[in-house]
Amino acid sequence: MAGYKILILHGPNLNMLGRREPGIYGSMTLPELDQLLARRASELKVEVDSFQSNSEGALIDRVQQALPDVDGILVNPGALSHYSYALRDAFSAADRPLVEVHLSNVFSREPFRHHSVITPVADGMLCGLGADSYLLGLEALLNIIKKQRG
Ligand code: DQA
Repeated sequence: MAGYKILILHGPNLNMLGRREPGIYGSMTLPELDQLLARRASELKVEVDSFQSNSEGALIDRVQQALPDVDGILVNPGALSHYSYALRDAFSAADRPLVEVHLSNVFSREPFRHHSVITPVADGMLCGLGADSYLLGLEALLNIIKKQRG
C-alpha cells in the first residue's frame, strides 16, 4: 500500500464536541472522534494527521505547512464553511483532493448554513451523518486519491 498521508482539519468550536449542543452534534468528544478516525485509517492503511483550531489563520497555516507531503485533505470547516474565502483559497492553492464533512445536516438548519463557500472547491461533501460523515468521507477521499494515482 502506497502509504498515503491525509490531513484532517476540524474548524472552530469543534473542540467543544460532546458539550456543545449535544442534541445537534451528539455526545462524542473530539478526542473520541479522532480515535475512531485513527482506527479506521489504520484499517485503510493510510496515515492521518488531525488538527483543530478556532482560528482561520492557524487552519490556513496548517494547510500550507502540510504541503508537499499531504495527499488529500478531509475538513469540517465549521462555521468557516459559510464565509471563509481565505480558507477556500488555501484549499484551491493546495491543489489536493478535498472532502468536506459536517456532523449535522446543514440543509435542515438555519438558512445561513445552507451555503458553503468551500464545497465548490471540494471533490465532494457529506453531512448529517454524525461521525459517519467523517468516516465515510475518509474512505471516499482515499478512493479519490487512489483513482488519481492510477
Ligand atoms: C458544522 C455545521 C456548521 O454550520 C457549524 O457552524 C459547525 C459544525 C457541522 O459539523 O455540522 O461548527 O460544520
